[in-house]
Amino acid sequence: MELIGPISQLVSLQDLALKGPINDSALHTISNAGIAIEDGTIKAVDTWDALLAAYPKAMITELNGAYVAVPGYVDCHTHICFGGNRARDFALRNAGVSYLEIAKSGGGIWDTVTQTRKCTEQELTQIVIKNANKLLQLGVTTIEVKSGYGLSVEEEIKMLRAINRGNSETAADLVATCLAAHLKPKDFNGSNEAYLDYLVTNLFPVLQSENLTKRIDAFIETSAFSASEIAPYLQAAKAFNFDITIHADQFTTSGSEVAVQYEAISADHLEASGDKEIEIIAQSKTIAVALPGASVGLGCAFAPARKIIDKGGALAIASDWNPGSAPMGDLVCQASILATFEKLTTAEVFAGITFRAAAALNLFDRGRLIAGNKADFILYPSTDYREILYYQGSMRPSKIWKSGKLVSA
Ligand code: NIG
Ligand code: FE
Repeated sequence: MELIGPISQLVSLQDLALKGPINDSALHTISNAGIAIEDGTIKAVDTWDALLAAYPKAMITELNGAYVAVPGYVDCHTHICFGGNRARDFALRNAGVSYLEIAKSGGGIWDTVTQTRKCTEQELTQIVIKNANKLLQLGVTTIEVKSGYGLSVEEEIKMLRAINRGNSETAADLVATCLAAHLKPKDFNGSNEAYLDYLVTNLFPVLQSENLTKRIDAFIETSAFSASEIAPYLQAAKAFNFDITIHADQFTTSGSEVAVQYEAISADHLEASGDKEIEIIAQSKTIAVALPGASVGLGCAFAPARKIIDKGGALAIASDWNPGSAPMGDLVCQASILATFEKLTTAEVFAGITFRAAAALNLFDRGRLIAGNKADFILYPSTDYREILYYQGSMRPSKIWKSGKLVSA
């Protein structure tokens, strides 16, 4: 048993609901707090004095200085396994060329596929570790990572192996997702349906036998796959018992309806969602994931986060870190920006990057500082948790614990 403290202010996020609005008055804070940990797990969260009295034999890690503690963040949507970059696309977009026009003329996702295919599995592993460690330094202790820049059975397997190997070499937990249905690759000779069928037949069994992922993602968009094209793919994914997550309503609608229909665990993007889509998602068990980094990267509208929450939906916020639409890779900065434009309470933002994001990964053992959860937490050099979003990401954590281990100080 180890006791860590005293902590000037601790925000536990205990008792907050998975869905719907949260007033800041519902945020539970403890002043002069401590955290008791054992075997990587939180044993108790209480005032420092109460913990010292309850566990007199515990090892004590005494903190000197003023700190705010919050749960380690969960980034439930990233594409941090990629070769090269797309600075050229970014400059072209800002000079007036659209995302879809760039994609049609050989830029876009296909450009990254070409550069990712040139990397060896070892090189990709190093890229994943480097990017994951950058997120970890920002306090992100759990990171979802998608494939989707391989787009053939062999290349998707290479990416997923790199992600899983990266997981064993970074302190953060990485959750791999197969996004082979990102785009039909230019070198596939056949229809969209034929490409998806090829994946089901040749890739799904390997994902399962090699235990490469439990999650299947698909990009439903006019430039990628239509609702009807993707239906058999999602049916097959369900038959394999994979969790489903969908890139939905980024530029045009239909993806969110499909996500709900197939009981996807999350529907991500939603920038184009209108009242009908908002209603459908909010009524469902599917978690809505806003990706403000893609809005900032592309200069597009934000997902209607306020409306989704007000209609009773569960809203998570993720970075979408990828070389094309969201190159920034700073979850706290992006979540703070979303808060100012969409008028989200501080509690809703913290929920969105902690336990609500964990739920989007089917993880219920993290995202709140409560007994039984993983001991994943961050200390900021502050005495007021509101400063974290106020500084819009520029105030960085001073110390980070992952599964009870100090991984950054
Ligand atoms: O989430 N929308 C599709 N996929 C990514 C972008 C990938 C890329 O442009 O490389 C996204 O924004
Ligand atoms: Fe994405």
